[in-house]
Amino acid sequence: MHEIALRQRAHRAFTDRPVDEDVIRAILTTATRAPSAENTQPWRFVVVRDAALRARIGDLTARAWSGGGRAWAQKSLPSGLFADVDAGATGGVAAAPVLVVVSADTTACVPAVLGPSIWPCVQNLLLAAIAEGLGSALTTLATAFGDELRTLLDLAPTIAPQAVVPLGYPAVELRPGRRRPIDDVTTWR
Ligand SMILES: Cc1cc2nc3c(=O)[nH]c(=O)nc-3n(C[C@H](O)[C@H](O)[C@H](O)COP(=O)(O)O)c2cc1C
Repeated sequence: MHEIALRQRAHRAFTDRPVDEDVIRAILTTATRAPSAENTQPWRFVVVRDAALRARIGDLTARAWSGGGRAWAQKSLPSGLFADVDAGATGGVAAAPVLVVVSADTTACVPAVLGPSIWPCVQNLLLAAIAEGLGSALTTLATAFGDELRTLLDLAPTIAPQAVVPLGYPAVELRPGRRRPIDDVTTWR
Protein backbone atom coordinates (compact mmCIF):
# COMPACT_ATOMS: atom_id res chain seq x y z
CA MET A 1 0.00 0.00 0.00
CA HIS A 2 2.72 2.50 1.00
CA GLU A 3 4.75 1.46 -2.00
CA ILE A 4 1.86 2.26 -4.36
CA ALA A 5 1.09 5.61 -2.71
CA LEU A 6 4.76 6.60 -2.81
CA ARG A 7 4.76 6.02 -6.58
CA GLN A 8 1.64 8.11 -7.24
CA ARG A 9 2.39 11.00 -9.62
CA ALA A 10 0.47 13.28 -11.96
CA HIS A 11 0.93 11.70 -15.41
CA ARG A 12 0.19 13.89 -18.41
CA ALA A 13 1.70 11.87 -21.27
CA PHE A 14 0.40 8.46 -22.32
CA THR A 15 0.97 5.80 -24.93
CA ASP A 16 -1.80 4.77 -27.34
CA ARG A 17 -2.10 1.34 -25.74
CA PRO A 18 -5.79 0.79 -24.93
CA VAL A 19 -6.92 0.05 -21.39
CA ASP A 20 -9.08 -3.06 -20.96
CA GLU A 21 -12.58 -2.51 -19.70
CA ASP A 22 -11.99 -5.06 -16.92
CA VAL A 23 -9.10 -2.94 -15.66
CA ILE A 24 -11.23 0.22 -15.70
CA ARG A 25 -13.97 -1.61 -13.81
CA ALA A 26 -11.50 -2.82 -11.19
CA ILE A 27 -10.20 0.73 -10.73
CA LEU A 28 -13.70 2.17 -10.38
CA THR A 29 -14.61 -0.56 -7.89
CA THR A 30 -11.67 0.46 -5.72
CA ALA A 31 -12.61 4.13 -6.16
CA THR A 32 -16.06 3.39 -4.75
CA ARG A 33 -14.64 1.82 -1.59
CA ALA A 34 -13.88 5.38 -0.46
CA PRO A 35 -15.59 6.94 2.55
CA SER A 36 -18.41 9.44 2.02
CA ALA A 37 -20.57 11.45 4.39
CA GLU A 38 -23.35 9.21 5.70
CA ASN A 39 -22.29 6.72 3.03
CA THR A 40 -24.15 8.82 0.45
CA GLN A 41 -21.66 7.87 -2.31
CA PRO A 42 -22.25 11.02 -4.38
CA TRP A 43 -19.66 10.09 -7.02
CA ARG A 44 -20.79 9.59 -10.61
CA PHE A 45 -18.40 8.52 -13.35
CA VAL A 46 -18.41 8.92 -17.09
CA VAL A 47 -15.78 6.75 -18.77
CA VAL A 48 -14.87 8.51 -21.99
CA ARG A 49 -13.08 6.39 -24.57
CA ASP A 50 -14.61 7.93 -27.69
CA ALA A 51 -11.86 9.91 -29.45
CA ALA A 52 -14.14 12.75 -30.59
CA LEU A 53 -15.52 13.23 -27.10
CA ARG A 54 -12.05 13.15 -25.58
CA ALA A 55 -11.01 15.83 -28.05
CA ARG A 56 -14.00 18.00 -27.04
CA ILE A 57 -13.00 17.68 -23.38
CA GLY A 58 -9.46 18.51 -24.44
CA ASP A 59 -10.80 21.68 -26.11
CA LEU A 60 -12.47 22.75 -22.86
CA THR A 61 -9.22 22.10 -20.98
CA ALA A 62 -7.20 24.09 -23.50
CA ARG A 63 -9.72 26.94 -23.36
CA ALA A 64 -9.56 27.10 -19.57
CA TRP A 65 -5.78 27.08 -19.80
CA SER A 66 -5.46 29.80 -22.44
CA GLY A 67 -8.29 31.81 -20.87
CA GLY A 68 -6.48 32.51 -17.60
CA GLY A 69 -5.05 29.30 -16.16
CA ARG A 70 -1.84 29.57 -18.15
CA ALA A 71 -1.12 33.19 -17.19
CA TRP A 72 -1.74 32.41 -13.53
CA ALA A 73 0.36 29.24 -13.57
CA GLN A 74 3.26 30.93 -15.35
CA LYS A 75 3.59 33.26 -12.37
CA SER A 76 2.94 30.73 -9.63
CA LEU A 77 4.45 27.38 -10.71
CA PRO A 78 8.10 26.32 -10.84
CA SER A 79 9.19 26.11 -14.49
CA GLY A 80 9.34 22.30 -14.64
CA LEU A 81 5.84 21.86 -13.25
CA PHE A 82 4.55 24.66 -15.47
CA ALA A 83 5.96 22.88 -18.54
CA ASP A 84 4.32 19.60 -17.49
CA VAL A 85 0.93 21.18 -16.84
CA ASP A 86 1.21 23.18 -20.09
CA ALA A 87 1.89 20.01 -22.09
CA GLY A 88 -1.01 18.27 -20.35
CA ALA A 89 -3.46 21.12 -20.85
CA THR A 90 -2.62 21.54 -24.51
CA GLY A 91 -3.16 17.95 -25.52
CA GLY A 92 -1.33 15.47 -23.28
CA VAL A 93 -4.23 14.79 -20.94
CA ALA A 94 -6.87 14.53 -23.68
CA ALA A 95 -4.63 12.11 -25.58
CA ALA A 96 -5.00 9.51 -22.82
CA PRO A 97 -7.00 6.54 -24.11
CA VAL A 98 -9.46 6.96 -21.25
CA LEU A 99 -10.78 10.05 -19.48
CA VAL A 100 -12.80 9.41 -16.36
CA VAL A 101 -14.98 12.41 -15.60
CA VAL A 102 -15.80 12.30 -11.90
CA SER A 103 -18.91 14.25 -10.94
CA ALA A 104 -20.87 14.86 -7.77
CA ASP A 105 -24.58 14.30 -7.33
CA THR A 106 -25.44 17.59 -5.66
CA THR A 107 -28.68 16.13 -4.27
CA ALA A 108 -26.86 13.38 -2.37
CA CYS A 109 -25.61 15.38 0.60
CA VAL A 110 -25.28 18.89 1.96
CA PRO A 111 -22.77 21.15 0.15
CA ALA A 112 -20.39 21.24 3.11
CA VAL A 113 -19.60 17.54 2.74
CA LEU A 114 -20.07 17.07 -1.00
CA GLY A 115 -16.46 17.82 -1.99
CA PRO A 116 -15.05 15.95 1.01
CA SER A 117 -17.11 12.96 -0.15
CA ILE A 118 -15.68 13.08 -3.69
CA TRP A 119 -11.94 13.55 -3.19
CA PRO A 120 -11.27 10.31 -1.27
CA CYS A 121 -12.90 8.47 -4.18
CA VAL A 122 -10.68 10.28 -6.66
CA GLN A 123 -7.62 9.46 -4.57
CA ASN A 124 -8.59 5.76 -4.50
CA LEU A 125 -8.96 5.93 -8.27
CA LEU A 126 -5.45 7.38 -8.66
CA LEU A 127 -3.94 4.72 -6.40
CA ALA A 128 -5.81 1.89 -8.11
CA ALA A 129 -4.47 3.13 -11.44
CA ILE A 130 -0.91 2.77 -10.13
CA ALA A 131 -1.70 -0.74 -8.88
CA GLU A 132 -2.80 -1.62 -12.44
CA GLY A 133 0.40 -0.21 -13.97
CA LEU A 134 -1.38 2.88 -15.32
CA GLY A 135 -0.67 6.56 -15.05
CA SER A 136 -3.32 9.08 -14.06
CA ALA A 137 -3.73 12.63 -12.83
CA LEU A 138 -6.26 14.66 -10.91
CA THR A 139 -7.14 17.53 -13.27
CA THR A 140 -9.78 20.18 -12.80
CA LEU A 141 -9.14 22.72 -15.58
CA ALA A 142 -12.05 21.52 -17.75
CA THR A 143 -14.47 21.93 -14.85
CA ALA A 144 -14.09 25.70 -15.28
CA PHE A 145 -16.63 25.03 -18.04
CA GLY A 146 -18.76 22.74 -15.91
CA ASP A 147 -22.01 23.53 -17.72
CA GLU A 148 -20.47 22.73 -21.09
CA LEU A 149 -18.91 19.55 -19.75
CA ARG A 150 -22.27 18.53 -18.30
CA THR A 151 -24.00 19.17 -21.63
CA LEU A 152 -21.28 17.35 -23.57
CA LEU A 153 -21.71 14.26 -21.38
CA ASP A 154 -25.49 14.46 -21.24
CA LEU A 155 -25.52 14.78 -17.45
CA ALA A 156 -28.52 15.95 -15.41
CA PRO A 157 -28.43 19.54 -14.08
CA THR A 158 -27.94 18.18 -10.54
CA ILE A 159 -24.69 16.45 -11.50
CA ALA A 160 -21.64 18.67 -11.09
CA PRO A 161 -18.37 17.67 -12.82
CA GLN A 162 -15.47 17.81 -10.37
CA ALA A 163 -12.46 16.32 -12.11
CA VAL A 164 -11.18 14.81 -15.34
CA VAL A 165 -8.84 11.92 -14.64
CA PRO A 166 -6.84 10.61 -17.61
CA LEU A 167 -5.95 6.92 -17.50
CA GLY A 168 -3.37 5.27 -19.71
CA TYR A 169 -0.02 3.55 -19.85
CA PRO A 170 2.63 6.19 -19.06
CA ALA A 171 4.73 7.48 -21.96
CA VAL A 172 7.48 8.35 -19.50
CA GLU A 173 8.39 6.83 -16.17
CA LEU A 174 8.20 9.43 -13.41
CA ARG A 175 10.40 9.37 -10.36
CA PRO A 176 8.82 10.19 -6.97
CA GLY A 177 7.60 13.81 -6.82
CA ARG A 178 8.83 16.53 -4.48
CA ARG A 179 7.12 16.81 -1.11
CA ARG A 180 7.89 18.75 2.05
CA PRO A 181 9.37 16.61 4.83
CA ILE A 182 6.70 15.56 7.30
CA ASP A 183 8.47 17.43 10.11
CA ASP A 184 7.83 20.69 8.22
CA VAL A 185 4.09 20.08 8.16
CA THR A 186 3.49 18.21 11.43
CA THR A 187 3.28 19.20 15.06
CA TRP A 188 3.11 16.63 17.84
CA ARG A 189 1.20 17.37 21.05
C1 LIG B 1 -7.40 20.13 -6.74
C2 LIG B 1 -6.35 19.78 -7.77
C3 LIG B 1 -6.48 20.26 -9.05
C4 LIG B 1 -5.54 19.93 -10.02
N1 LIG B 1 -5.73 20.34 -11.31
C5 LIG B 1 -4.84 20.00 -12.25
C6 LIG B 1 -5.08 20.36 -13.61
O1 LIG B 1 -6.11 20.96 -13.97
N2 LIG B 1 -4.14 20.01 -14.53
C7 LIG B 1 -3.02 19.31 -14.18
O2 LIG B 1 -2.21 19.01 -15.07
N3 LIG B 1 -2.77 18.94 -12.91
C8 LIG B 1 -3.67 19.26 -11.94
N4 LIG B 1 -3.45 18.86 -10.64
C9 LIG B 1 -2.29 18.01 -10.33
C10 LIG B 1 -1.21 18.75 -9.54
O3 LIG B 1 -0.51 19.64 -10.37
C11 LIG B 1 -0.29 17.68 -8.94
O4 LIG B 1 -1.03 16.87 -8.07
C12 LIG B 1 0.87 18.27 -8.16
O5 LIG B 1 1.64 19.11 -8.96
C13 LIG B 1 1.77 17.17 -7.59
O6 LIG B 1 2.25 16.41 -8.68
P1 LIG B 1 3.06 15.04 -8.45
O7 LIG B 1 2.17 14.14 -7.67
O8 LIG B 1 3.32 14.53 -9.84
O9 LIG B 1 4.30 15.37 -7.70
C14 LIG B 1 -4.41 19.14 -9.67
C15 LIG B 1 -4.29 18.65 -8.37
C16 LIG B 1 -5.26 18.95 -7.44
C17 LIG B 1 -5.14 18.37 -6.03
